[in-house]
Amino acid sequence: DVLLVLNGPNLNLLGQRDPQQYGTTTLADIEASVRERAGEHGLDVDFRQSNHEGELVDWIQQSRTSAAGIVINPAAYTHTSVAIRDALEIVTCPVVEVHMSNIHQREPFRHHSYVSAVADGVIAGLGAHGYVLAVDAVATLRAHP
Ligand code: DQA
Repeated sequence: DVLLVLNGPNLNLLGQRDPQQYGTTTLADIEASVRERAGEHGLDVDFRQSNHEGELVDWIQQSRTSAAGIVINPAAYTHTSVAIRDALEIVTCPVVEVHMSNIHQREPFRHHSYVSAVADGVIAGLGAHGYVLAVDAVATLRAHP
């Protein structure tokens, strides 16, 4: 069973980008800790990042019926993308939204998420550890739907 982990724009620069806000952990570090925790739950991981909204939509559509779960940090598209929201609404597996920063503590334009309405749960403000918690959440949601 494959867990799809999707990362939106600029998350490829984690570690270099605004370390005050996002820390020094890189996306490769996050991928490693996600793979380790997913393995403990018997899940394989398909870990992806894109700076392109439509590519994220394509990946969500492709995994619509096959993914065991989706963990998504839509990054800036959180606050703008009806298309990503609509794609996630169609999937049948558990969906967990992750933000490294606490978006509610930040600028008002980050307070609203289009994605939250179609996510089973949301994790924000816990840094890179949020991704690991999201893996646990998917495993729990699969065991107790
Ligand atoms: C983010 C929060 C978003 O507001 C921002 O645009 C990001 C990262 C986070 O992980 O905290 O790129 O999703």
